[in-house]
Amino acid sequence: MTLDLKIDNPDPSHRPDDLAQGVLGTETDRPDGWAKVAGSATYAAEETVGDLLHGVLVRAPGIGAVTCPNLSDVRAMPGVRAVLRDDRLIRNAAQGMADEAPVQGADAADYVGQPIALVVAESFEQARHAAQVLDVVIQTKDAPTDPSAVDPEVPDDKQSAMGDLDAAMAEAAVTVDAIYTTPSMSSAAMEPHAATAQWDGDTLTLRGSLQMLKFNRNELADSIGLPPEKVRIMAPFVGGGFGSKLGISADCVAAALAAMELGQPVRVVQHRRNVFEVNTRRSETRQHIRLAADADGRLTGLGHDALVSNLPEERFSEPVVQGSHFAYAAANRKLGVQIARIHRPASGSVRAPGESVGVTAFELAMDELADKAGIDPVELRLRNIPEKDPESGKPFSSHRLKEALTQGAEAFGWSARTAAPRQRKEGEWWIGTGMAAAFRVNMVIEAEARISLRQDGAVVRSDMTDIGTGSYAIFGQIAGELLGLSPDRVSVELGDTDYPPGSGSGGSFGAASTGTAVWLAGMEIRRQLAERLGCDETELTLKDGLAIFSNRRVPLEELLCDGPIDGHGHVQPGDASEKVRQATFGAHFAEVAVNGVTGEVRVRRMLGSFAAGRILNPRTARSQCHGGMIWGIGMALTEELTHDRRDGHAVNRDLAGYHLPVNADVPPLDVLFVEERDDWAGPMQAKGIGELGICGAGAAILNAVYNASGARVRDLPATPDRVI
Ligand code: MOS
Repeated sequence: MTLDLKIDNPDPSHRPDDLAQGVLGTETDRPDGWAKVAGSATYAAEETVGDLLHGVLVRAPGIGAVTCPNLSDVRAMPGVRAVLRDDRLIRNAAQGMADEAPVQGADAADYVGQPIALVVAESFEQARHAAQVLDVVIQTKDAPTDPSAVDPEVPDDKQSAMGDLDAAMAEAAVTVDAIYTTPSMSSAAMEPHAATAQWDGDTLTLRGSLQMLKFNRNELADSIGLPPEKVRIMAPFVGGGFGSKLGISADCVAAALAAMELGQPVRVVQHRRNVFEVNTRRSETRQHIRLAADADGRLTGLGHDALVSNLPEERFSEPVVQGSHFAYAAANRKLGVQIARIHRPASGSVRAPGESVGVTAFELAMDELADKAGIDPVELRLRNIPEKDPESGKPFSSHRLKEALTQGAEAFGWSARTAAPRQRKEGEWWIGTGMAAAFRVNMVIEAEARISLRQDGAVVRSDMTDIGTGSYAIFGQIAGELLGLSPDRVSVELGDTDYPPGSGSGGSFGAASTGTAVWLAGMEIRRQLAERLGCDETELTLKDGLAIFSNRRVPLEELLCDGPIDGHGHVQPGDASEKVRQATFGAHFAEVAVNGVTGEVRVRRMLGSFAAGRILNPRTARSQCHGGMIWGIGMALTEELTHDRRDGHAVNRDLAGYHLPVNADVPPLDVLFVEERDDWAGPMQAKGIGELGICGAGAAILNAVYNASGARVRDLPATPDRVI
């Protein structure tokens, strides 16, 4: 039986008051943790499959028409079974929630690095060698690759205005009017994109490294011309995605087509260079930010206009100003995103698309405003917290920015700060502190899950993925909480489209969306148990494997001797988003040391304070926040995907040239969670936390760089040459 819920009001009816098992909300270990650290968790390229062929993608060395003059010679090379030059193979990475994927022709490359062929051979070495021997000739076409060199598109639906910002700027006591830039960035997931495809009769099974299986199944089916029910995707473990695995990637389509043509299983693993070129990057941004404030620092106007870049046919664009719509009150507003259509590798969602770079730049501007107005940066934010959504007038579903700011400031020791820059020096090093607010939209996505309650415990199933976020742990906790079982009596099986379709992992909606489906499945089992026992559901307490009601205590084993009880949960977003504005909030604090001789920046400590509704598992939630804050260090100081000026290709396309923070760059990180429940977030009252930690984190660091050294860096990352 299915329990359905549409979230369109703060209805507490699915929220029994007697749930206090001490399971949900506690620091539960990941049940998958041991398998991962011991190396026994099988990722997409690790499953043992018999008679396996190996495919290697061939990349376009330029932009324009593609020919392969020695194709037949390569097809005759030792061990080579096929060289695929198929239109279906060559596609932009889909955005994960599209049923159709845009397909590009194999005869023309839109960007350098685009896959234009797949070589399949009996061994990986034979395939790689043949791929190297294949001649790829490009008839180079004139294609712009620099976003500032083209007239951008100005899509109407991405522009908004209220009042008169120009007048507000002219009349303001204090203003900031500045341009900030952020470079292209890569998701740089540790596990490269990889796929193993196998045909069983007329059904395709694909083991992939993917975030959103129910969507990925439709995308793959659409790409290769099969009905979705003939496609099964499995992704029980995913070694990081960060948005780059929202949609199916070239390896998936290539492996599927090759397996179909050759009647044998085919594996395609992306080379690290492919990972940086073929999968979506985060667009570079150019952000014009204008702030107008009265003498007390109250914003009278705010403007945020961004330029991003995409390939000509791409449907996604980085929603840079998404957070600026609701972050601060101001009567006069102008926000917009423009798109330069150019031929760099495709850009798409990378962790917290929009806010991660948009809030970061905006919070740099807010620090400049605080400085000009002579107001403490925390106080400036406090003075501009809106009472309701500034543009729609809708109430917030929950809003604890004030608490995040004040509790974070207290825990960090913010009051000890000196406002003026260049006041503290230790040897060559200038020391300073900075802060920024964090904002991120919150979403719920349709999701289903099933629980089977058996004598030996419960089994939770959904096609939901765990991309390192803690899905396995959290769903076990939810089922355990509702059914009165310790988490070790709940097994969680994820990442298989044969299971009920979950939300997938993306947009920070995974734990709350699929988690709610698990919760509803648990509620449905409680209903059936009450029915069996002849008691009212509200009287029933499940605890320690016992059903307790009136003055009876019945072991669940006894109730289940005739077979398991199944419950199915199904949540849909409803129209809550039309009634309330729902978002998550936080505050970042950082202390840095800036070398006065070299311009090197070392982050000394960071503290993040976050309000995201109920925290389901503080350990996995904290881990998400750590990841976001570490990414903030990269965004502020080191990360930059550089494009060649001639043809736009990604130059530093590996982990040696693309500088992610390593352990030596990461200081002690403190995370605190503001107590919050969001009644509009369904029965669990939990919002998404996965992406909040990156939003604004880099700004706290760069604001600290200013406080330490007096250097205002508006072009990220703040490499030593930009600081000194
Ligand atoms: Mo996220 S960028 O939606 O994985």
